[in-house]
Amino acid sequence: MIRSVVRGFGTSLPKRVLTNRELESMVDTSDEWIVQRTGIRQRYIAGEGETTASLGEAAAREALDRAGLTPADIDVIIVATSTPDNTFPATAVNIQNRLGMHHGFAFDVQAVCSGFVYGVTTADAYIRGGLARRVLVIGAETFSRILDWTDRTTCVLFGDGAGAIVLEAQEGEGTVADRGVLTAQLRSDGAHLDKLYVDGGPSTTGTVGHLRMEGREVFKHAVGMITDVIVAAFDATGLSIEDLDWLVPHQANRRIIDGSAKKLGIPLEKVVVTVDLHGNTSAASIPLALATAAADGRIKEGDLVLLEAMGGGFTWGAVLLRW
Ligand SMILES: CC(C)(COP(=O)(O)OP(=O)(O)OC[C@H]1O[C@@H](n2cnc3c(N)ncnc32)[C@H](O)[C@@H]1OP(=O)(O)O)[C@@H](O)C(=O)NCCC(=O)NCCS
Repeated sequence: MIRSVVRGFGTSLPKRVLTNRELESMVDTSDEWIVQRTGIRQRYIAGEGETTASLGEAAAREALDRAGLTPADIDVIIVATSTPDNTFPATAVNIQNRLGMHHGFAFDVQAVCSGFVYGVTTADAYIRGGLARRVLVIGAETFSRILDWTDRTTCVLFGDGAGAIVLEAQEGEGTVADRGVLTAQLRSDGAHLDKLYVDGGPSTTGTVGHLRMEGREVFKHAVGMITDVIVAAFDATGLSIEDLDWLVPHQANRRIIDGSAKKLGIPLEKVVVTVDLHGNTSAASIPLALATAAADGRIKEGDLVLLEAMGGGFTWGAVLLRW
């Protein structure tokens, strides 16, 4: 049985760090309020010349280097983003060109904060379907460019960055002992369109728009939605929470992460948290956290790793994989 195995990983962050203290001089907020409600202490903000494509390219290059591969070895590039460089062409095609890759194909997926989970699921389907051998999956965002910097209820929460992995077709036994993606569970429900959205777009206002969110409403739904797909992922494989080595959640908010882990009975020592350093980087948050924990030696070959996310739409999903 063909499995999609993680062969390499990489990250990229903008040069500029924006601390909570600095935000205090921009909007009516405090370091204490932000840390207590969200766990965020700082975030990175893209500067001149730094874009979703440039950050994504840098993360992709690092992932390729770590895998000992070059762009010539890649068949498909999938970029998960809600902050593309342009309305079109896709940021994935932009990154393909930056990498000097002129074969294969590249496209974006748009599922907001669940984008990386959707991207990995799509790549896994291409690989298992025999349409690709190696897929570069990138989560890259510059949310700072769609924030309303006068709205303290949203501007303190988000940051910019990118993470990437290379998924490769490898032969498995067809058991849960195989390395690679074991199951993916995706969901969406457009009944919640107005709870987390951008108030502009090419076909409505003709502008880019700004992020708007009913924070309390999002919070209310988050833990239940996340835990539902996680339970579905374990049911699909016959594995249980006790088998899990690492939970790598979307890094939106420390309270959502802790609440979900607690509800599922996952000890906090098994949860990778980077929201304090990066803020919410939407589709980039999972690959940033994943690469951080793999680079520092926490995630090791053979570990059972659970990715989960929830975001605007709402969209949500979970991927269970063996590293
Ligand atoms: C956004 C969030 C942190 C707000 O926390 P909360 O406990 O729900 O806070 P509320 O929205 O009820 O606001 C409480 C008070 O803090 C104020 N407040 C909001 N943002 C603030 C800020 N940055 N600094 C200081 N005070 C702030 C509010 O105005 C409100 O004041 P009031 O009581 O005088 O009206 C929380 O709702 C949340 O985490 N939601 C999920 C957001 C998320 O993760 N979204 C991304 C999903 S992908």
